[in-house]
Amino acid sequence: MYELPYSEACERNKQAILEVLLDVLPKQGVVLELGSCTGQHVVHFAPAFPGLTWQPSDRPEYLSGLAERIRQQGAGTISSPIELDVTGAWPGKFYDAVFSANTAHIMGWPEVEAMFHGVGRKLVPGGVFCLYGPFSEKDGSMVRSNAAFDQSLRARDPVMGIRNLDSLEKLADRSHLRLVERKRMPANNQMLIFRALEANPDD
Ligand SMILES: C[S@@+](CC[C@H](N)C(=O)[O-])C[C@H]1O[C@@H](n2cnc3c(N)ncnc32)[C@H](O)[C@@H]1O
Repeated sequence: MYELPYSEACERNKQAILEVLLDVLPKQGVVLELGSCTGQHVVHFAPAFPGLTWQPSDRPEYLSGLAERIRQQGAGTISSPIELDVTGAWPGKFYDAVFSANTAHIMGWPEVEAMFHGVGRKLVPGGVFCLYGPFSEKDGSMVRSNAAFDQSLRARDPVMGIRNLDSLEKLADRSHLRLVERKRMPANNQMLIFRALEANPDD
């Protein structure tokens, strides 16, 4: 039996994330997930949203494990995962919502910019973008455990690092998205909730 990729953090945080998504995602439509990785989030969320179709995605090296988890555990509302590097070509479709967890601190800043720009172009007007992870406050402050995590990321690769809320909000403005809500989550994580403005002049 193929051993599925596994993340302990994903297992711990998936229920708290689901409870927020139940409040903010539309009841019907298609949700694009960026950086689906092990697929643990999408297989946990999909059964709770009978009217939504989920489109998992990731970079090529993660697709086989992701596809296998969906094959073994996925609900019928999960589409086959697609290759999507935020700096490359995006699907020629529009989405009602986009979800991404623990990606912004792994991507370099130009990739974070590409993610926001792509989400801003691919969301329908009024669509929602839920970005989960650790973030620093507008003044740059972070709780001690996040500061240690940030240092370990930067030691691993200087382009990585916990992103600042103020920088993300400015980036959202440039991407025709607006930060509408921020929810505190367990383990000093947050869910940032953005909405696509009614008209995106880039379309
Ligand atoms: C720490 S993992 C998080 C995975 C999963 N979402 C979770 O919460 O456990 C970071 C993810 O970001 C993805 N990622 C990093 N750079 C990316 C890029 N340029 N385009 C798309 N995904 C990217 C990785 O492939 C990986 O799936």
